[in-house]
Amino acid sequence: MAAPVTLQGIIQDIVDEMRAAPDRGKVATYIPSLAKVDPARFGMAVYTVDGECHAGGDDEVGFSIQSISKVFSLTLALGKAGDQLWERVGREPSGTAFNSIVQLEAERGIPRNPFINAGAIVVTDVNLAGHPPREAIGELVQLVRYLAEDESIAINEEVARSEERTGERNRALAHFMKSYGVLRHAPDLVLGTYFHACAIEMTCRQLAAAGRYLMLDGRHPGGGRTISSIRARRILSLMLTCGHYDASGDIAFRVGIPAKSGVGGGILAIVPGRASIAVWSPGLNANGNSQLGSLALERLAEATGWSLF
Ligand code: DON
Repeated sequence: MAAPVTLQGIIQDIVDEMRAAPDRGKVATYIPSLAKVDPARFGMAVYTVDGECHAGGDDEVGFSIQSISKVFSLTLALGKAGDQLWERVGREPSGTAFNSIVQLEAERGIPRNPFINAGAIVVTDVNLAGHPPREAIGELVQLVRYLAEDESIAINEEVARSEERTGERNRALAHFMKSYGVLRHAPDLVLGTYFHACAIEMTCRQLAAAGRYLMLDGRHPGGGRTISSIRARRILSLMLTCGHYDASGDIAFRVGIPAKSGVGGGILAIVPGRASIAVWSPGLNANGNSQLGSLALERLAEATGWSLF
């Protein structure tokens, strides 16, 4: 008799396939610190709604969450500004690269959504209100630690400095938006905070743990509410439509699960009411999303039937 298919077995099969995959994409080099990461790495962790964590591969190796931090920054900003946030940032897919500037001039400096770099820079500006940058970034790290129930989560200062030295494109975006009055603080203060948020380092286990509030409709796994149900659903809708930039449609088509990627090669994916998933493989495809991370999510969705569609 064949052994029953378990989630742990599915994850192990995916880890084995990804470990052997010949085409792993290319590690990001525009942030020099990220260029040093070993492209052979692959990790995966899945928290299910019953509180179990199933994981495999390099699930306990820390990586730079990069743009996945935009999910947590948005959560914080919605708590501060509520729906007024949408006066300064849109909620439409951009169809352009994560660091593109092209739409800003035609659209009065208002970024298309909070997950492209320009949008996340505005969200960071909102989170800075009334705080020096050190406090704003501290508040974000505290939120992530609380969500993951793990006080060891921290910023990798070397990655933050590396991006600070090379972040000319983000500087251009910030100054351009400042010229329209969309940013309220000095671009350098906003960018310093933004770069530090991107440099938060987490393992797959920690990231999947931090995503549980979105799996649980806004409730904290320890009890109580982190955000309202409607807010959790709105964040998930943005992850589905904008979480992979100009490949968001492709990921919705192939995987069918709300997910947010980062150029560190991580992806956080949430199956509402069922699972919080983190995958990590540092090699990226042409859209700046993890090549094997996306493939792993496709395999997981096929094997579990977790696509929303
Ligand atoms: O601002 C940047 O370019 C990086 N700190 C984050 C970009 C990113 O993760 C895009 N994701 N795929």
